[in-house]
Order: sequence, then C-alpha cells, then structure tokens
Amino acid sequence: MKKTFLKLGKQPLANSFLSNLTKKLLRQEFFYNLNVSFNSKNFLVSVSNPVNPKLQYTDNYAHRASESATMRNAFKQTARKLKKRFNPKIILEIGSNDGVFIKNFNRKKVIAVEPCKNLANLTKIRYKTFPNFWDKKLAYKIFKKSKKADLIFSANTISHIPNLNETFQAINYSLSEKGVLVIEDPSLFSVIKNNSYDQFYDEHVYVFSTLSISKVVEEFDLRLFHAEHIQTHGGSMRYYICKKDAIYRKSKKLISILKSERNNKLHKYITFKKFSIRVQKSKKALKKIFKKLKNKGNKIISYGATYKSTTVFNYCNIDSKLIDYVTDTTLNKQGRFTPGMHIPIISPEKGMNESVNYAFLGAWNFKKEIFRKEKILLNKGLRFISHVPWPQIIGK
Ligand code: TMP
Repeated sequence: MKKTFLKLGKQPLANSFLSNLTKKLLRQEFFYNLNVSFNSKNFLVSVSNPVNPKLQYTDNYAHRASESATMRNAFKQTARKLKKRFNPKIILEIGSNDGVFIKNFNRKKVIAVEPCKNLANLTKIRYKTFPNFWDKKLAYKIFKKSKKADLIFSANTISHIPNLNETFQAINYSLSEKGVLVIEDPSLFSVIKNNSYDQFYDEHVYVFSTLSISKVVEEFDLRLFHAEHIQTHGGSMRYYICKKDAIYRKSKKLISILKSERNNKLHKYITFKKFSIRVQKSKKALKKIFKKLKNKGNKIISYGATYKSTTVFNYCNIDSKLIDYVTDTTLNKQGRFTPGMHIPIISPEKGMNESVNYAFLGAWNFKKEIFRKEKILLNKGLRFISHVPWPQIIGK
C-alpha cells in the first residue's frame, strides 16, 4: 500500500547545526536516506523511514517561531479568530515552541506541551507547561482529574509525530464533547504546485492533504468539519476537527477543497511520481544557476538557515564552494555550521552588505518580509536565487 515516489538522498537532521567542524563532531553527524512514500489506502504522504523523535527534539532545539514578524502576527490573528468563534475556556497547545501562540490567551486558561526543554523553559514561568512528548500517558496525566480541553491547537507539530495512533487517541481523550481540534500544517497541494520538495525533511514525517487528514481522523472517531488555506510556511492548511457526533456541520469550503484535491489527483500515486520527475529537473536547473554565477566570480550567500534549505543543499550538493555563508537572525544558529554541507552561519548584520551579489532564498516562505527588509540592497543590485516554483533569479 505504501510506495516510495521520491528519493532525496543521504540527509542529516535538518536542525542539527554543528558548533564546530572537528573530526569528532563530523564523525558523529547522523545521516539517513530521505525517501518519501504515498499510501494508497489513506492517501498519506510520509517519510518512508522516520527518524526517532528523541534524536530530533532535544534540549538544544534551534527553531523559535517568534523569530519572524510574519509568524508572530499570524498566530496573533489566529488566536483572535479562534477566541471569537469558539470562546474556549481551556486551551491545550501541543508543540507550544517559545509560546508565540499561547501568549495571546489568558494564562489561567492555557496548558502548553513542548518536549524541547530549552523552549518549555521559556513558557513555564507564566504558563502551565509540560516539557514532554505528546502521548496518551501525558494526556491521562493532564486530564484525568480536570476538565477536558475545549480547544486543542497544534501548529506545525502533528505532521512531525510518526505515531498518529498515539497522537489522535490522546487527542480524543483530551477533547471535551463539544471541543474543537485545530491543526495547522504545510499543505501537500502547495508542495505539488510550488515544486517545494524542501518541505520534506526528517521532521516533516507527514505532509498532509485535506483528503488524507479527513480519512485519518475518522479512524479515531473524530471528524473534519472545516478547512482553510493559510499563507504560512509557503502554503499551509488549517483543519478544524471535532468528535464524530459533535454538532459541527461540514462546511461548504471543506467540500470544495476536497473536490479540488480530487480534481488535482492528490489521491493518485501517478501525481507524486510526476512530481518526483519535476524535482529531479529542478535540482539540475538550480545547480546550473549556481555554477554559472560562481564561474562569473559572483559572491553568493544564503538567506535564512532554514530546515528546508538543509534538504535543498544536501540533495543538490550545494556546499561552501558555492555559498560563502548563510545569514540568520536566530542567535543560536549564528556561529554554527549547516547540517551536512557545513556552511558557516553568521548574523545578517555581519553578512548582508554590498559585497553580496546573490542570496539563495532559503527562507522563501518569508519572501515578502525579507524583500521589505532588504529593500536598500535590492535597489543597489542584490538579487535572490529561489528554487520555488522553479529555479530562477529574482529581484525587486
Ligand atoms: P522557518 O522557515 O523554518 O520558519 O525558518 C526561517 C529561518 O529564517 C529562521 O531561522 C529565521 C530566519 N530568518 C532570517 O534570518 N531573516 C528573516 O528576515 C526571516 C523572516 C527569517
């Protein structure tokens, strides 16, 4: 039933930025084969051989959702919208990161779950925070003696958890009878449309379609009743899920999204096979651009040490011979080296100046925000290289 359609080669963990390049650390660097498969039974697209989450979500986890103004703003708007529509009294967030979502709620109403202790420590002073992986044991611990949650929110987390059985059983136990589960994750439809194969990395165990989410939740006596497109992470979906017998009616929007996904054949293996051929061509085209620009003596850097660019660099073999350095605003990425390709990461203050001719848009999902920020350099001739939807040079 599960069939591999995409092979992205030997990959390191997307978030394992190296603190130095000593032989010892290089020897310890973990690699795995990143293959992606399609399940014809429930239409799930997933990493064929997921990595153990304990290797990924450590106490040095680098990603901070609050780093980007786009994300801070998006979560603020989402919190406002969910408060207005559902007026929740008890809110559980699974994967609360640095608190970017929960900080928009009254602290007495919120329960946060975040397995990376460095992140959980950031919220535990103000909010009830459990520094644990989400599973049934934790759900029983939290809700055995207290009222169930009437809003469970989880952004960019459910798609990271290999064991969907454990995840949804724990959710079903924790959700009140009229409660709503709202999840946000990158959209498979956007990945296919944008050729954004870099959405596949070790943490994105699943890239959901609406069709697959609808099927999967039914296995756990839950029901998808609404979905909407959102702009974050280069095209995501927000899914609204309730208990099987809850009052919510299937929305017209959901019916139309499901129809559109069927029309675009997101339930057929052939769609993904064709996508994988486009990905191979995209790799060739990107390398051609890099080599041509480098041969002409240009200085090329990369903008944003994103997890997505780990996939691109390792798949396309783009290393420090082609890219001088990567700039990133995140303090705990600066001074480190990118996973697998070992390109140095420095602050934008040090790295973004007139000496840069081209910058690979690693954080292509923040293009608008970045173009606003780099307006002066763009006016002076800086150009970006982007591989989505197709490798090309972009400017102003
Ligand atoms: P993400 O796509 O996984 O959220 O990661 C985005 C990364 O890009 C994050 O490390 C912060 C970085 N970044 C910058 O360095 N400059 C920027 O202007 C933006 C928006 C992000």
